[in-house]
Amino acid sequence: MKLEIVILAAGQGTRMHSDLPKVLHPLAGKPLLGHVIGCAHALSPHNIHVVTGYGTEQVRAAVGDESICWHLQEHQRGTGHAVQQALPGIADEHVVLVLYGDVPLLEPATLQRLLQGLSRCELVLLTAEFEGVEGLGRIVRDAEGRVLRIVEQCEADPDTLAIREMNTGVLAARAARLKQWLGQVGNDNTQKEFYLTDCIGLAVEGGHPVEALLCEDAETTLGVNDKAQLAQVERACQRRAARRLMDQGVTLMDPARIDVRGELQVGRDVEIDVNAVFEGCNRLGDGVRVGAHSVLINTTVGAGTRIHASSHIEEAEIGSECSIGPFARIRPQTHLGDHVKVGNFVEIKKSGIGANSKVNHLSYLGDAELGAGVNVGAGTITCNYDGARKHRTVISDRVFVGSDTQLVAPVVVGEGATIAAGSTITKDVPADVLAVARSKQVTVQHWKRPEKDKK
Ligand code: UD1
Ligand code: CA
Repeated sequence: MKLEIVILAAGQGTRMHSDLPKVLHPLAGKPLLGHVIGCAHALSPHNIHVVTGYGTEQVRAAVGDESICWHLQEHQRGTGHAVQQALPGIADEHVVLVLYGDVPLLEPATLQRLLQGLSRCELVLLTAEFEGVEGLGRIVRDAEGRVLRIVEQCEADPDTLAIREMNTGVLAARAARLKQWLGQVGNDNTQKEFYLTDCIGLAVEGGHPVEALLCEDAETTLGVNDKAQLAQVERACQRRAARRLMDQGVTLMDPARIDVRGELQVGRDVEIDVNAVFEGCNRLGDGVRVGAHSVLINTTVGAGTRIHASSHIEEAEIGSECSIGPFARIRPQTHLGDHVKVGNFVEIKKSGIGANSKVNHLSYLGDAELGAGVNVGAGTITCNYDGARKHRTVISDRVFVGSDTQLVAPVVVGEGATIAAGSTITKDVPADVLAVARSKQVTVQHWKRPEKDKK
């Protein structure tokens, strides 16, 4: 059986009230369509077809998947018409599985089970039971429980509206049959559209058996038509991500308060406090603890490192047994060695910090290279920008930088040197010396403070 998956993604998504094509709205950090394509790949099909229309160029560029066969539906005349755009190139004997670009949580195993139904009948569809979800097609069965047709909500009478079994949008049939049925579908309905769902009635009328598989996990079939449904599907997706993490042994202080927008790899005994957000691809080593309200973006964290509350870390590599934050900001291209301490209100950008070094309070390090065992006092700043160019600061092993020091780059501080507090360092400092660059203190004897005027 050669499988061709057709994904419908041509609609604008009027109910989203957005200029962004609906299928590009992010779910867990990835476009809705990306989730559907990921699921399609998991079935190892012969081909994946995507039908686009509204924002075609934008959709194709955002997906950027070389293996996809793209089809243009110039005017959105309905889901049946959309499938027809992909059918001409598909061999009659191949099986076509239709997925909707706005139904992103489907499990490949469910679809596999659905496809097995084609050994017994000519058309299979996936259904789910819902209450209070708007806009879904109702599955009409006869007294014996055989599927008769699908009636869209906007076409349904009150009795049909009361049916709880809904169309998920997923169906499969041989290409020859779909071509035949879709050729017969008309648009004589309230929306003047060619409904894919009319194929079910046509199949039954033509004497072709139809089977409906009721999906037990209805949540996985939720569609996104508006922002409220997007939020609902996002929560469902996050619950699943939290569950997967706990299944791998992660301690989540509250599984309802974590957001994973991308891929999160974890070692053993990882602990994550509430409201942590992970974007892109993050890796946490064994025993890592992430404090409340922290944001990690494309970052790797070594074993045993503790990230304290409210830290923001982006595109960084952090060694093992480090202590970061609370309230630390680590920006792209930063590498921290092992046993490094970065304390509160410290910002580090495009810098390397060697093992056992400390930057404990209120400092800015940009374009800097720090060796091992360096101590950076509170309020130290690398003056890395001259208004036109960025310059590097090099601080060698075992340097002690006194508090409130400015290092005007480019500048190099030699091994073991000490910089006195409050210094403005503009020239290179040799190894093992004390550099003092501040005005001398004077003492004024018998000084009288000014007094306020008496009333
Ligand atoms: C559709 C089904 C409904 C089902 C629901 C499940 C039809 C007629 N109705 O309704 O039975 O319960 O999905 O979520 O199929 N699209 C195109 N071209 C078009 C029209 C739509 O590519 O001309 C795409 C859309 O971009 C979207 C998908 O098809 O990804 C579904 O279209 P949508 O308008 O959202 O259909 P629903 O009203 O949700
Ligand atoms: Ca929809």
